[in-house]
Amino acid sequence: TAGRIVVVGSLNADLTVYCERLPLPGETVHGSGFAVHPGGKSANQAVAASLLGGAVSLIGAVGDDTNGAMLTASAAGAGVDISRVRISQTAATGVAVIAVDSYGENTIIISPGANGTLGPADVHASGDAFDGASVICLCLEVSLETVVAAARSGREAGATVLLNLSPYSDIPQELVGLVDILLVNAHEASLFLGGAAISEGGIPEGKDKAGWERARVRFAELGLQCVVVTLGANGSVVLDSAADEDSKVVRVAPVEVKAVDTTGAGDAFTGALAARLAAGASLKDAAAFASAASSLAVTRKGTQAAYPDVEDVRRLLGFPSAGFPT
Ligand code: RIB
Ligand code: NA
Repeated sequence: TAGRIVVVGSLNADLTVYCERLPLPGETVHGSGFAVHPGGKSANQAVAASLLGGAVSLIGAVGDDTNGAMLTASAAGAGVDISRVRISQTAATGVAVIAVDSYGENTIIISPGANGTLGPADVHASGDAFDGASVICLCLEVSLETVVAAARSGREAGATVLLNLSPYSDIPQELVGLVDILLVNAHEASLFLGGAAISEGGIPEGKDKAGWERARVRFAELGLQCVVVTLGANGSVVLDSAADEDSKVVRVAPVEVKAVDTTGAGDAFTGALAARLAAGASLKDAAAFASAASSLAVTRKGTQAAYPDVEDVRRLLGFPSAGFPT
């Protein structure tokens, strides 16, 4: 049976408008189809993991308002334990203002609201959630002190600590030391490595192979043995410095889909990875599964409402029932 997953972080109401192309600074464009979706990176991760079979507890904060109620209902509806989502009486539920263009690309501005009130005290008040947990999922939409406290609780519980370095920020060495697996996109990876550019198109083959090997070594020097770099439509790359010589840099090929809305694709990847790791899969197998799950997520509008369940992923990967990892 799979171990429990604890997700600590943000819940946002996503205020999304679809448009032909994203406006430039100072420009106004026509949009269509305004919608309010449940979102926030951590709530998204929790929903993704739960839909894919994980037993998930979410620690976070919302306001005492309709957006907060929408978010807790969405998470609970997906099977997430929301008993540790605190309802703030002073701050409104966090919101994300999102524009999505005709290629499914997006821009996002977040206003933290209640997410900004989540502190180490919330983590400590939920200490029981960490007992016996196997995976902890974190992102940077709540304060660094909160993330550090959660990572430390996870480490003390012997869980695998997964950090999605998004939205990007520099992180203290203390946090690096508590992270078992770092999840980044190409842009975040480049920022973390100090400008040693990793491009979305540069897969670890041919002339780009040496560049990925350098990136792996650099991550390891900085204290990160396991890093998963997502490359959008180009799949992902798993950097595992503890692996055998010929499998320290492994590419996970993409699953080809038509992107409608890429919002929350990284969160789907993170949640799916957590679900498979909690079920005992290897990092590479979990990444292949997560890649398929996030590919499905971009084919539909919204984040949580677009996330697949196990059957969807099974169908996409063409697994016969008997051969499907459980
Ligand atoms: O990663 C996507 C998420 O980022 C959205 O749901 C939005 O709320 C922002 O947090
Ligand atoms: Na989507």
